[in-house]
Amino acid sequence: DCFKAEFKAEEKFRIVNGMSFSPEATHIEAVKSMNAYDKMRDDDVIVSSYPRSGTHWSIALVDLVMHGGDIETVKDRHIHERSIWMDIPMPNITGKAEMSIDSIKKQENPMVAAESTPSPRLFSTHLTYDFMPESVKQGKCKVVIILRNPKSVVVSHHFLNDIPEYYDVAPTIDQTIDAMLTDAQDQMIYGSWFNHVSRWWLNKDKLKGNIHFVFYEDMKKNMGEVIKGLAKFLNKSIPDENIEKMAEHLQFDQMLKNPKTGKAFENIKIDAESLDLMETDAFKDLHMRKGVIDDWKTKLTMAQSERIDAFLGSRLDKIGLKFQYE
Ligand code: A3P
Repeated sequence: DCFKAEFKAEEKFRIVNGMSFSPEATHIEAVKSMNAYDKMRDDDVIVSSYPRSGTHWSIALVDLVMHGGDIETVKDRHIHERSIWMDIPMPNITGKAEMSIDSIKKQENPMVAAESTPSPRLFSTHLTYDFMPESVKQGKCKVVIILRNPKSVVVSHHFLNDIPEYYDVAPTIDQTIDAMLTDAQDQMIYGSWFNHVSRWWLNKDKLKGNIHFVFYEDMKKNMGEVIKGLAKFLNKSIPDENIEKMAEHLQFDQMLKNPKTGKAFENIKIDAESLDLMETDAFKDLHMRKGVIDDWKTKLTMAQSERIDAFLGSRLDKIGLKFQYE
C-alpha cells in the first residue's frame, strides 16, 4: 500500500506501478519466485496481515516480545527497521541489506537480501498463505497473523484516498467496499479481504502449531493478555511487572509521540523513486490515523454496513472466524 496507485473503475482493478497486487492475477515476478528460494530458518518469525489491519503496531509488538519486553532496546529503532519486508521494497535505512526497487526490477528473489541478516529475524508481509515458501507452509518457523474486523479495515483503507499522490481518481467508499469485500480478486491490492484471511485460517493446521492469530480488537482491549499469549507462542519469558509497561509503550498515543514510530515519523532516506510517497505528510498522517475499533460506525452508512454483513456474515460463520466490531 505504499506505491502511487491508479484506480481504474472502468477496468475494475488497481494497477500499482504497472503490476496488480492481487494474488489471483499477475503478481510481481520477484514474489512469485519466493517459493523457489527457501532459506527460512527455524527461529524466523513472520507477521502477516491484510493492509490497514494494524501491521505496524503488531510489528512493534512482536519485535518487543522477541526482545524479551526490553523497551530501551527497541524504542530508538525506526519502525521500518524492526522487520524485513518480504514483499514490499523498503528504503535502506541502516545500510543493512534489503531488497530494493532495483532488485525487484531485476526480478531478484526478495529473500536473497535477508540472508545476511543475523538470527532471529522478524519478517513482515501482506502476502497470504499461498505465497509463502514451502517450509513456512509446513510450519518451519513461527507465523503471527494480525486480524482486524473488516468494517474497520475498509474504513482505514478508504482514508488512504486522502493522499493526493495516491490516486489519479480516488475511489468512493462504496467502490472500496466493492473492491475489498466481495469475491473479486483483481480489484484490490492484495486481493479480497476474505480470501486473504481465510487462506491463512483454513490452512492453519498445516503449520502444526506454529501459527498464532492476534486480533486488533484484543490488542486494543487487553494488550496484557495478547503479550502473554505471544510470549508463550514465541517461547519468551517476560516478567509480569514488565507487561504493563509494554502495553503502555504500545498504546496509540505513546507510539504517536515517538518519532521512530509516530505520525510524523522521522524522514528516512528514500533510495527508490517510487517510494517518494512515503515522504509525504499525508502518508505519514495516515500511517497512524485514529487507532480505534468503532470508527466505522460514524464513517459507514447503515446500508453499507448491512451490505458488508450480507456478504461476509455467512462466509465467516462457515469457516468459524468471529470478529468484534466495537
Ligand atoms: P486507522 O486508520 O483505523 O486509524 P497498518 O499498519 O496495517 O497499515 O494499519 C494501520 C491502522 O493501524 C491505522 O488504523 C492505524 O491508526 C492503526 N494503528 C497503528 N498503530 C496503532 C496503535 N498503537 N494502536 C491502535 N491502532 C494503531
